[in-house]
Amino acid sequence: MTQVPAQSGPDVRRWLVTGATRGIGHAVASLAASRGDRVCIVGRDPGIAGIAAAMDGDVIGIAADVTNPDDVRRLAGEIEARWGGLDVLVNNAGLHRGGGLERISDDDWEATLATNLSGPMRMIRALVGLMPEGSSVVNVGAVVGFRGFPGDSCYGASKAGLTGLTRVLAVELARRQIRVNMVVPGFVQTEMTATISERARDAIIARIPLQRMGTADEMADVCWWVAGSKYMTGSVVFTDGGLMCNL
Ligand SMILES: NC(=O)c1ccc[n+]([C@@H]2O[C@H](COP(=O)([O-])OP(=O)(O)OC[C@H]3O[C@@H](n4cnc5c(N)ncnc54)[C@H](OP(=O)(O)O)[C@@H]3O)[C@@H](O)[C@H]2O)c1
Repeated sequence: MTQVPAQSGPDVRRWLVTGATRGIGHAVASLAASRGDRVCIVGRDPGIAGIAAAMDGDVIGIAADVTNPDDVRRLAGEIEARWGGLDVLVNNAGLHRGGGLERISDDDWEATLATNLSGPMRMIRALVGLMPEGSSVVNVGAVVGFRGFPGDSCYGASKAGLTGLTRVLAVELARRQIRVNMVVPGFVQTEMTATISERARDAIIARIPLQRMGTADEMADVCWWVAGSKYMTGSVVFTDGGLMCNL
């Protein structure tokens, strides 16, 4: 791959993507960087600076846990010191813990909500003061936040909450001309879905009208245009091969 030279100027946006050490977040960050924007990738992996250095374009990596309020404050401080502002925040970091209601532990419940719901709220709260008019937030949801899937109470509840947060903040932040939208992946090939049994995988694919899993790059494409859309806020954009439409 060719190196994309670092750029600056009014057309270069500053992105922060959480959960970008791998999977969908990494694809979003790579796409933004490949198109000439400046990107900060965030994740807990202590090797994140090396991951950023291996990516093409103007990419930095900052290790932070979105469930840790001190980490989130430090991250916002570093963004302010380095860039002085932020144009796109992608709340993509996610945790999946499954199990029927009587099997899930309090820790499963709390960790999932902390990562998927409280994390994005803290990130937006910490960074919104750095976001100028015209900037945008993209939250990454999940189909199970809209549809009942047995064994997904923690995850489904956390993502349903994130949809509510998206809609409230779309209205609240509209007066500052900051847009807040949600991209909802269907069933995507990443580490998160890698341990699902072949039988379960086939059963899910059978319910997807397009009859296949999505790719991280396909999710990144949608995050890219949602982030840049000028008149879209409070929207939920399903990117799921038709899964939500299927009865
Ligand atoms: N894959 C799917 O089928 C699917 C479907 C619907 C929705 N989604 C959503 O899409 C998003 C990305 O999922 P994925 O499939 O790419 O998952 P993944 O491969 O498991 O990657 C998750 C990312 O989140 C980061 N992360 C997890 N907890 C974190 C924390 N507390 N603080 C900071 N970073 C954290 C991980 O990095 P570290 O380990 O370095 O922290 C990793 O980069 C998630 O929100 C997920 O819920 C995925």
